[in-house]
Amino acid sequence: MYRFVYWLVLSRLPAEATHRVSFALLRALVTIPGVRAVLARWLVPRDAVLRVHAFGRELPGPLGLAAGFDKDARGVRALLALGFGFVEVGTLTAEPQPGNPSPRMFRLPRDRALVNRLGFNNRGAAAAASRLAHRTNGTVGVNIGKTKRVADSDAIADFTLSAEALAPFADYLVVNVSSPNTPGLRDLQAVAKLRPLLVAVRAACDRASPMRRVPLLVKIAPDLADADIDAIADLALELGLDGTAAKVDALGAGGLSGAPLKQRALDVLRRLRARTGTRLVLVAVGGIENGDDAWERIRAGATLVQAYTGFIYGGPLWPRRVHRELAARVRAAGFASIDEAIAADAAIARVS
Ligand SMILES: Cc1cc2nc3c(=O)[nH]c(=O)nc-3n(C[C@H](O)[C@H](O)[C@H](O)COP(=O)(O)O)c2cc1C
Repeated sequence: MYRFVYWLVLSRLPAEATHRVSFALLRALVTIPGVRAVLARWLVPRDAVLRVHAFGRELPGPLGLAAGFDKDARGVRALLALGFGFVEVGTLTAEPQPGNPSPRMFRLPRDRALVNRLGFNNRGAAAAASRLAHRTNGTVGVNIGKTKRVADSDAIADFTLSAEALAPFADYLVVNVSSPNTPGLRDLQAVAKLRPLLVAVRAACDRASPMRRVPLLVKIAPDLADADIDAIADLALELGLDGTAAKVDALGAGGLSGAPLKQRALDVLRRLRARTGTRLVLVAVGGIENGDDAWERIRAGATLVQAYTGFIYGGPLWPRRVHRELAARVRAAGFASIDEAIAADAAIARVS
């Protein structure tokens, strides 16, 4: 059904317009009394085999929606009702900004991929914070980046502003230094620059949320050289970070997403796991299209997985399908739950 609608209508509209219209429709739909509850009852995973614990929380399933889809935290409740185990909003910047000129988002359907050079278009951290302050249930991560017009030398102060505004409402916070679309941002992945940035953001989170330690992650682009990935992994351990999101992007002008990233994202995940053991929560992202992909990442050391492109091509029932396929894989492997599979792999990782 979705494939037919996609072929008939959506694939003919520009990619960004399609996103805007379909997301607005979804948000409108869930304002109809009772609709959100019905969707949630139908789509949110209830199978105990899928339950997973991360960041001190219990999630109904390990598949989350990656950053970039709901940049301004406008549809969190609707997206959770589609069956995502968690939603990561953002990237948010301290100041509102329009992003790059259009067109800036492109489909590559034959490659099951997307290319974007959106440039962190968003309404700013303060607006998202006031929206997130009203949310009730579900797990929501918040991804922050640098405001484009701010000089690189002021990047730390800029990230700190966002962290202070958003940490109180974040179940986890992600420092995004992975995007190719903000000049200079990826230079922050160099350890000499990343260290003071992460120390400052950690302090900002603790100031803004003194009663609850907000888990802090860093999102890196695994087209980094292996030595740089190792250096960031070591830094994350040294600073007592909570996790790392490993994604691949940045091929040509803009970020590439989807199936072509699958192998490299998996390789980087394995590298991070080998380097950090079980001391970080690894969130795998990049090219996850089905339950097999999700299972492969979990067996490679991920606690959680995220996707964006798979959802675009798979449609609103896609999170449910992936979770169902994943549940079958967990059972077929003889585990009672994903937590149990993760614990078994962690035990092996500790002795090897
Ligand atoms: C249109 C689009 C916009 C994105 N915007 C962001 C963003 O604002 N912040 C971010 O951290 N990642 C962003 N991403 C990257 C995704 O979060 C994800 O890391 C990447 O798409 C790889 O996962 P996938 O292969 O499942 O799509 C964006 C991706 C796409 C396709």
